[in-house]
Order: sequence, then C-alpha cells, then structure tokens
Amino acid sequence: MDLKQKYGEWALVTGASSGIGEEFARRFASEGLNIILLARRKDRLEKLSEELKLQHKIKTVVCAVDLSTDSFLEEIKRCVGEREVGILVNNAGFGSTGEFVNASLEHEAKMVKVNCLAPIILTHHFVEQMRALKKGAIIFLGSTVAFQPTPFMTTYSATKAFNLFMGDALWWELKKYNIDVLSLNPGGTATEFQRIASSDAGPIPRTTKNVVRTALKTLGRKPTVVDGLYNKLLSVSSRFGTRRLTVGISGLIAKKLYSAR
Ligand SMILES: NC(=O)c1ccc[n+]([C@@H]2O[C@H](COP(=O)([O-])OP(=O)(O)OC[C@H]3O[C@@H](n4cnc5c(N)ncnc54)[C@H](OP(=O)(O)O)[C@@H]3O)[C@@H](O)[C@H]2O)c1
Repeated sequence: MDLKQKYGEWALVTGASSGIGEEFARRFASEGLNIILLARRKDRLEKLSEELKLQHKIKTVVCAVDLSTDSFLEEIKRCVGEREVGILVNNAGFGSTGEFVNASLEHEAKMVKVNCLAPIILTHHFVEQMRALKKGAIIFLGSTVAFQPTPFMTTYSATKAFNLFMGDALWWELKKYNIDVLSLNPGGTATEFQRIASSDAGPIPRTTKNVVRTALKTLGRKPTVVDGLYNKLLSVSSRFGTRRLTVGISGLIAKKLYSAR
C-alpha cells in the first residue's frame, strides 16, 4: 500500500522518542511521508528528526509536548500549523505494576490522561480534517492486556481496553468517510516500557519492527490486530472461560509477576 497516496503527506506520531513510536516514524519516513514527531524528550526527537531528514529527504516537525497537561492540544495545534495530518498514531503511553491500593493516585491519574484522554482529544481534533478530505488513518495502541482485566496492572489494562474499544468502534463509525482505524495490540515488546512499568517483555518478546509491520499490514483491512502468534493465542484464550475464571487466571499469573513491584 502506498501510504502517502492513500492518506496524504503528513503523519503525526505520539511517543516518537522511543520504542514503537520511534519505529513508526522510521517506517513512515522510509515510505516518504513527512512526520510530526511528538513526545516530551526534545533532544531525542531532534536527533531522530535530523537522521530521518538526512536519510529520506522528508520534512519533519519536532513537537515537544507533555500529553498529561491541560494545554497540550493548543501546543500541538501550534506545532502542526496548516499541515494536513493524514495519519495519526496515538502511541504515547506508559504502565505501572503492583497493588492498586499502594499506587500513587497522581501517577495512575496521569496514566489515564496520557493513555486515554489524549488519544480521544487528538482523534476528535484531527478527524475533522480527515472527514473533510475523505481520507485518513488513525491507530490506537491497545495491548494483549486489553483483552482481559489484569490485576496488579489494573489501571494500565483498563486504559488499554479503552483504546481497543475506541479503535474498534471508530473503525465502523468512520468507514463511511473513508478513514481507516486500527486498534493495534502488541504483547511484550522490547522497548523502554518495561523499565518504566517495572514489568518485563515475557517469554517471547517481539521487536518494534515486528509490531509496526503487523500494524501496516492490517491497516485498512481489519479493525483490530494482535501482534505475533503467541500473543494472538493469549488474547483469544480469554474468550473461552467465564469472566470469573479469566480474571482469576490472569490474577494468579500477574500476582506472581507483578504483586511485589
Ligand atoms: N512494549 C510493550 O511491551 C507494549 C505492549 C503493549 C502495548 N504497548 C503500548 O505501546 C505504546 C508505546 O510504548 P513503548 O513500548 O514503545 O514504550 P516506550 O519506549 O516507553 O515509549 C513510550 C513513548 O511515550 C512517550 N510518552 C510517555 N509519556 C508521555 C507524555 N506525558 N507526553 C508525551 N509523550 C509521552 C514517551 O516519550 P517521552 O518520555 O519522551 O515523553 C515515549 O516516546 C504504549 O501505548 C504502550 O502502552 C507496549
């Protein structure tokens, strides 16, 4: 698929300073798309921007913004200016592990802002222009933990279920405007995520290249994709038991892995 022809010249990637977001930026650049690189760490974004401009002769905009603040949309509007964003990747996010009662409320609330509120605010803003142009693509980052409530990762799994639902429902709603929507659900993928969430990437970690390739193969074809066979089996298995059994099993596994963190 020629992304530029199908969706337009500019992509906006949130969380482009590392991990999956950085890989989306690299892949888009290799396909000749111009990119708005968004995250908090400006130095990282500037370094990536210089590299991509040099390698691929594309245009970039560095947008150093904290998505947990109340003013982020205004700051992003200033960065984007008159550019038409054809692909929006709602990728920025983080997690936490441990007992909910011991967690910092401030931290959990910030997670909901970055993982859930920011994607709906950004989508609501950029979809208007996509609708007018009758083309566009929006990607939401779910996770394999979006498919079953996950104790000791409670808030995080709820934020990812939110993204899974947003992506799936908007896939249907926006079809009539020729806008492709995808909820992309990675399992353990080697990035900075694990250090920040005090988790690990599991027995069969995937690479960011795997995840982005899966996303772009699926975009425009299906509402949801889980990256990797092992992760697909995990996410499907939660459909077969009762809710009580599913949460029970995920609780036992998560207790072993995350309760002490
Ligand atoms: N890695 C996994 O195993 C895995 C599995 C399933 C789903 N996911 C999802 O994949 C997405 C990307 O995560 P990753 O694995 O690539 O982790 P990562 O390497 O830690 O990247 C997270 C990105 O989000 C940005 N970010 C965090 N807080 C932000 C804020 N307040 N404002 C703006 N940007 C912010 C970070 O940039 P700055 O720090 O520079 O702001 C960074 O670029 C997340 O939504 C995550 O939930 C990851």
